Amino acid sequence: MDSLPKGIKGIIGPSILNADLSKLTDESRRLLDAGADYLHLDVMDGHFVPNLTIGHPVIKCLRKNIPKVYFDAHMMVAKPEQWIEEMAGAGVNQYTFHIESTTKESMPEIIRKIKEVDMKVGLGIKPKTDISVVEEYINDIDVVLIMTVEPGFGGQKFMGDMMEKVRWLRKTYPQLLHIEVDGGVNMKTSDDCAQAGANMIVSGSALIDSKQPDKDIEQMRNLIDENLRSKKLHLQITNNEHCSH
Ligand code: DX5
Ligand code: ZN
Repeated sequence: MDSLPKGIKGIIGPSILNADLSKLTDESRRLLDAGADYLHLDVMDGHFVPNLTIGHPVIKCLRKNIPKVYFDAHMMVAKPEQWIEEMAGAGVNQYTFHIESTTKESMPEIIRKIKEVDMKVGLGIKPKTDISVVEEYINDIDVVLIMTVEPGFGGQKFMGDMMEKVRWLRKTYPQLLHIEVDGGVNMKTSDDCAQAGANMIVSGSALIDSKQPDKDIEQMRNLIDENLRSKKLHLQITNNEHCSH
């Protein structure tokens, strides 16, 4: 996919954090050829999280090799306002920053700047953050990212109790936007995410280490679509599209 779907449906975005980063393009192509819908790119600055990964120069090179695919930049950085133009210039489609990395006062300006450079707005919340903090921004954003691990590393254990947040968000705003989950999502836990109402699945080590990534991606997507159908939400147009920027 090269843009977010207009309606709510299952989309799978591998995180390439645990891939062989010296072969970033090959690894990304391998997962896209296996049926992945988008790429989840974990950007860590060593301040917001205790790890250091890739920045816009690397993403720009990846974009040259993979021109069309939707790039979701998961910005685990202390100053989200600092990298907006650079990431847009590198070809990022979705700028997913953390509500814990900024202040209430700065939020409207950050969201405005992201839209100004034509990226979708993703708002991420860490496990200890209450879901209610995203409510006042719901009409201005495209995606809520619910972390199911403490951000900073791949390969961690899935936190099942985060599904409460997904259930609450899907129930309270059934058609409002895309709900993304990230951290420890594998074949088993992807079912928990689907049942709770998530529709965007990030999966790192489970898909990278999989012997059959094509079958796993398809199964994850089918689980979500089945659950959305059972909730009569599948491909329902998201309200945000009616008022999209
Ligand atoms: C963690 C990152 C995740 C992580 C996912 O901070 O945001 O995207 O790489 O990898 P797994 O699925 O292995 O937890
Ligand atoms: Zn991530």
